Amino acid sequence: MNKKHFIALLAFIMILIYSCSSNPQQSANQVPASTQSTAADDAKGEGKFKNVELTHPLDQQMVAKGKAIYDVKCNACHKLTSEKLVGPGWKGVTDRRKPEWIMNFATNTDEMLDKDANAKALLEVCMVRMPNQHLSDEEVRWVLEFMRNNDGKN
Ligand code: HEC
Repeated sequence: MNKKHFIALLAFIMILIYSCSSNPQQSANQVPASTQSTAADDAKGEGKFKNVELTHPLDQQMVAKGKAIYDVKCNACHKLTSEKLVGPGWKGVTDRRKPEWIMNFATNTDEMLDKDANAKALLEVCMVRMPNQHLSDEEVRWVLEFMRNNDGKN
C-alpha cells in the first residue's frame, strides 16, 4: 500500500468511528423512541388481563410490595430511569403501555414476544428474550403499582 492509499484508508476509518460515536441514541443508551410507540399503542397484549382496575390514589402497600419484587426479580435487567440495561428502563413505561399490556407482558412473556408487535420491536433492540419471571396475578399487580409510583402517577 502506498502512502496515498494509507492516508485515504485512515480517513475512512476515522469517519466510521466518528459516525458511530456521534449517534445520540447509542450514547444515551436508550431504546429508540420508534420502538416505544408504535401503531399498536392502545394494545392490551396477549394474555389473561383484559381490564385492570387502577387505584386512585396509589395503594402504597402495593407499591411497597411491588418494590420488594422489583428488587429481587427485575432490577438486574431494568433501571428505574429511562436508561436501558438489559431491558428498557422503566421510566415512562406506564405512559407508553396500557396496564393490561404491562401485566400480560410480565406474566405471559413468551407468547407476547412471539406475537405482540410492540414486544417484538423491543426484542429486536434489546436482543435478549426476557425470561418469564413467574409472577402471580397479585404480584404483577403490585409491580404495576410500583411502576405507576415510579412515573409519579396518583
Ligand atoms: C434477564 C433480564 C430481565 C429480567 C430479570 C426482567 N426483564 Fe423485563 N425485559 C427484559 C428485556 C430484554 C426486555 C425487552 C423485550 C425483550 O427483548 O425480551 C424486557 C421488557 C420488559 C417490559 C416492557 C418494557 C417496555 O418498555 O415496554 C416489561 C413491562 C418488563 N420487562 C417487566 C419485567 C418485570 C416485571 C420483571 C421482574 C418481575 C422483569 N421484567 C425482569 C429483560 C428482563
